[in-house]
Amino acid sequence: MNKYRVGLGVSGGIAAYKAVEVMRLLQKSGCDVNVAMTRHATEFVQPLTFKALNEGHVIVDDYDPANPDPIAHINFSQNIDLLLIVPATANIIAKFANGVADDFLSSTYLACTAPVMIAPAMNTTMWEQPATQRNIEQLKTDGVHFVEPVSGELACKTVGTGKLEDVDNIVRQALSLLEIGTDGKGNGENHPGGESPLLLLRKEGSLDLAREHVLITVGGTREAIDPVRFISNHSSGKMGFAVAEAARDRGAEVTVVAGATTVEAPAGVKVIKGISAREMFDGVMAELPSATVFVGAAAVADYAPANAANAKIKKEDKDTLTLELKKTPDILSEVSKRRKDGQIVVGFAAETNDVITYAKIKMGKKGLDLVVANDITQSGAGFNTDTNIATLITKNGQVELPLMSKREMADKILDEILKLRKA
Ligand code: PMT
Repeated sequence: MNKYRVGLGVSGGIAAYKAVEVMRLLQKSGCDVNVAMTRHATEFVQPLTFKALNEGHVIVDDYDPANPDPIAHINFSQNIDLLLIVPATANIIAKFANGVADDFLSSTYLACTAPVMIAPAMNTTMWEQPATQRNIEQLKTDGVHFVEPVSGELACKTVGTGKLEDVDNIVRQALSLLEIGTDGKGNGENHPGGESPLLLLRKEGSLDLAREHVLITVGGTREAIDPVRFISNHSSGKMGFAVAEAARDRGAEVTVVAGATTVEAPAGVKVIKGISAREMFDGVMAELPSATVFVGAAAVADYAPANAANAKIKKEDKDTLTLELKKTPDILSEVSKRRKDGQIVVGFAAETNDVITYAKIKMGKKGLDLVVANDITQSGAGFNTDTNIATLITKNGQVELPLMSKREMADKILDEILKLRKA
């Protein structure tokens, strides 16, 4: 079997020891791993630890007389399929973003033509610093992939965002990128050696959603008034696409029916356009028979113009214009009605007051297994933000989710779906 070659870059943070686990998991998944460390990383974990578990040379310094390769940063960077940085400190992120190449790892980044994935870990204040966020935005613009840090208790005993994502999730996302490629065209079935690491994990069932087909509605619908105007809402698609990306990384087959969105769909998921509520309804019903999980994350218009004009409506001399609206089809209720044995149905509720009460009413009325109740009046929650705050409600109880990235929340929603599946 041809193996993927991963360059694992370790920078100097307390989470550096977790890079050893990442290396082991990558090896277990059939990858060859070469390790590069910054000098500060060696204060937290010894190069010997990696060496003892790996055949390759661990490089800290190009100019070290013990280094067998005098132009190591070029050879290292040109012979890998992915450069994965775990953990990435604010300092290494800043160097990458600004083209500083004053050590082996930063020179390797500059010389690298393979995709790059970065898993940051740092104190919350450092993470939230405008300088760090600016550098991250720059790297995203440069095409670098990020495994976002999660919130939790940090080494400095504070609680907040900045904790390294779970090792399993980092490896899943890395394998997913290797399989799917940056163009999103791969599907894990065309690995040069036959069986790809991701496909093997899927087959083994070691990706926990390997047996699921998750169908998700995403974004806001647009209801035509005439050929140039429409009624819509502020949904960006970030929440729904985060669920799609997380489900993909956990091995699920993912289909998205997308309305209007301001962000790109993640690679490796099937996307069907459903711009109006009616089109979204038709797209969902066509895909529903093969789905095992349905997630309604879209903000679907409840009403649409009863008679959209075929030609642009003229202003004329009228000061007011009355539009007659009619109810749109309720996609979520219909999915619930058509539900087959074993299908799990999840809805969202975007509320401004009495959030839990209204969400529970929706859960009963629409026959849901799980409802994600977001209070969209809270700062950092709801429409067009990168973060969300929500309560997950099932018949078994409630889970409060504090402010976290939408991607992190997506994993929590999927964890809850798995619990429902097991029950
Ligand atoms: O896309 P983002 O900018 O990231 O924002 C995310 C979000 C706020 C849109 C998302 O988290 C969210 O809350 N989505 C549901 C918003 C909503 O319209 O809620 P609702 O209370 O109107 O609808 C309840 C549920 O019924 C939703 O799952 C909705 O998809 C579904 N529905 C509603 C009407 C309809 N005709 N068909 C439906 O399927």
